[in-house]
Amino acid sequence: MDIVIIGGAGRTGSRIHDRLTARGHTARLASRRTGFDWEDTDTWRPALEGAEAAYVCFTPDLAFPGVPEKMAALGRLAHDAGLRRLVLLSGRGEEGARTSEAALREGGVPTTVLRCSWFQQNFSEHFLAGPVRRGRLRLPAPDIPEAFVDLEDVADAAVVALTRPEPEDVTYELSGPELLTFTQAAAVLTGATGRPVAFEPVDVPTFIADVALDGVPAEEAEPLAHLFTEILDGRNATLAGGVAQLLGREPSPLSTYASRAARAGAWS
Ligand SMILES: NC(=O)c1ccc[n+]([C@@H]2O[C@H](COP(=O)([O-])OP(=O)(O)OC[C@H]3O[C@@H](n4cnc5c(N)ncnc54)[C@H](OP(=O)(O)O)[C@@H]3O)[C@@H](O)[C@H]2O)c1
Repeated sequence: MDIVIIGGAGRTGSRIHDRLTARGHTARLASRRTGFDWEDTDTWRPALEGAEAAYVCFTPDLAFPGVPEKMAALGRLAHDAGLRRLVLLSGRGEEGARTSEAALREGGVPTTVLRCSWFQQNFSEHFLAGPVRRGRLRLPAPDIPEAFVDLEDVADAAVVALTRPEPEDVTYELSGPELLTFTQAAAVLTGATGRPVAFEPVDVPTFIADVALDGVPAEEAEPLAHLFTEILDGRNATLAGGVAQLLGREPSPLSTYASRAARAGAWS
């Protein structure tokens, strides 16, 4: 099957690309490095042409203003280009993301939505890697429980949705197997890294200043911080069954990811 991975070789896209090519599918990356730019609709059609399916990953976040319009345009184009299925990466509990999901579906191509909990890999491959290394997990959020999901599970689930015999126009909610507060997550990271990591709730400007130490620009940190203050209120403090439904097995816990990331030198 010819599958285009829109959103390129990022955290989810690279994992999905590797899995698809290992199974003999043609997986094409589409991002700025291949000439596809979310900011320029003229670059979208060449990326879609000839593909049977697309994985859609919008960066920085599906919930941001202006994204539903982009999703509506992509959905129409995917239909015109003859795609037979779409798989969209989304986030749990995000009102703005719901609007983007619906907009993509307006094009009429069967769309599997993967609504995910917080990624475990936020602690090692994204904006929280620096804070974990510094031992201070500073977030503009209260100490609420979250069901952190492993990106290896998300990638496995996306591959099933992209390659199963018939496309599904459904939404799956994906979470990890346990609810952990940020304090409990910090304790897991302490165990894995062998260095103390503590959760510290902070205000938005402090969070922005903290992640700026690792080169995250304020233009990205500010909307992320506001998204966190919206969704990290306990609304996602439930386990979801999407991993088991799609993969027929239980999701992987934070401790397994943390040991693996520590062994790979994520925080060295
Ligand atoms: N982090 C979480 O906990 C969480 C939870 C649930 C859902 N999500 C969702 O996950 C998504 C992010 O997924 P991810 O972590 O796999 O992404 P990612 O690692 O940030 O990858 C993004 C890719 O997008 C490409 N890109 C960036 N700007 C672009 C542009 N203007 N046009 C085209 N491509 C562009 C980049 O490649 P180039 O540099 O080559 O362009 C990059 O490889 C977001 O939609 C977010 O809502 C995140």
